[in-house]
Amino acid sequence: MNILSPSILAADCTILGEQIKAVEESGARYLHIDVMDGSFVPALSFGMSLISSIRKCSDIVFDVHLMVQEPIRYIDDFVECGADIITVHQEACEDVTATLQKIKAAGVKAGLSIKPQTDVDVIEPYLDLVDMVLIMTVNPGFGGQKYIEASTERIIEAHKLLAGRQIHIEVDGGITKENVRTVLDAGANVIVAGSSVFKGNIQENVKEFMEILNA
Ligand code: DX5
Ligand code: ZN
Repeated sequence: MNILSPSILAADCTILGEQIKAVEESGARYLHIDVMDGSFVPALSFGMSLISSIRKCSDIVFDVHLMVQEPIRYIDDFVECGADIITVHQEACEDVTATLQKIKAAGVKAGLSIKPQTDVDVIEPYLDLVDMVLIMTVNPGFGGQKYIEASTERIIEAHKLLAGRQIHIEVDGGITKENVRTVLDAGANVIVAGSSVFKGNIQENVKEFMEILNA
């Protein structure tokens, strides 16, 4: 099954609760929450207090993407504030295995992400520990960037590496209604979309994405 995970980085924070309801009611199953620390990536975004407060208004699956150096320090905090899936970057962890084990031990799903310049096969040693692999399709740090075309081959490579396993392949960055078919055909099944969901009519955008995802 294909899943849409709208990224609230592109949402209007003054009416965030309403916008989350809108994506949920229109068929999105996950909500993508980008946490940036100003160190692993240049920008800062939001953290635990925002997640705790939106947890009160929605039961949607919280898909938390930690663009944070040494995220092992914060796993318990993110679980406590309501994360359902926690994805960490391979490049940000000194001990990837310990970080993923900590996520699993906390009772939530674990994701492992790689940046566009990282070899796809670095994920191989961790496949027994992950529920999801996140292939970044832009350089992490900002919303609204253009999809890096070379990502399509990387998704195909990840799909081959994961053959026969029940592991989701998520893609994040520059996904639009025009290119989403390409990433689905390459093997992705969890689709992050920020600008292309939250700019314009949210309900219509989600419905149009879902039609493509369900086709
Ligand atoms: C980028 C973030 C993305 C971002 C995607 O570092 O990880 O989740 O919000 O935004 P769009 O879909 O606008 O590229
Ligand atoms: Zn993200």
